[in-house]
Amino acid sequence: MIIAIDGPSASGKSTTAKGVAEKLGITHVDTGAMYRAVTLGLKLSEISPDDEAGVCQYLSEIELYFDANNKIRLNGIDVSHEIRSGDISSRVSAVSAIPEVREKMVIIQRRIAGEQNCVLEGRDIGTVVFPNAEFKFFLIADIDVRAKRRLIELEKMGETKSISELIEDIRRRDQLDSSRDHSPLIQADDAIPIDTSQLTINEQIKKIINHINHNK
Ligand code: DC
Repeated sequence: MIIAIDGPSASGKSTTAKGVAEKLGITHVDTGAMYRAVTLGLKLSEISPDDEAGVCQYLSEIELYFDANNKIRLNGIDVSHEIRSGDISSRVSAVSAIPEVREKMVIIQRRIAGEQNCVLEGRDIGTVVFPNAEFKFFLIADIDVRAKRRLIELEKMGETKSISELIEDIRRRDQLDSSRDHSPLIQADDAIPIDTSQLTINEQIKKIINHINHNK
């Protein structure tokens, strides 16, 4: 069984996908973490996203996987914390727009989900990676709510920004993610939209679980 949860950043995808996977006892795959890890790796290797040959060479050399604790590992190193920084957030859209990066990430995602039941969250799961997924959801939320969620996430990293700066960042990222040529952020025709602005995490999870239980 494949459950696709797509939507823009800070729409509540990660916590919801994690909770749904826990309730169903299946694997949670945070595909955004994969794009973030590649972004971190390119930065550390000082390879510009514009350097196509450098990016391709880099992709051919890396090992990227989720470990037994579902932490993302890049060349064996747990990078799950560093990939959440403001710096990586501001760089990731450019990296995730590179076709070769997407091709490699999609191969890994299909391999993981080919071996087990999964909840995959991202931008293109229901449209490109698994257009035949049994269940598809598209999460959205008001921009102010998303900025507040992002602030809480940043503060956990010891960073801070004003709400207006965060709103600007989110708008810019939405624009980049939705307008790129390759697999843009778009709601699949058969995805169920869920507005999480006024919902608690438990309510979001419950909505999805109820839908799955009623439509199995
Ligand atoms: O969900 P997130 O904010 O951690 O995702 C980070 C970035 O990765 C986001 O700007 C868009 C990109 N992404 C993508 O292009 N496709 C996916 N399936 C998941 C994330």
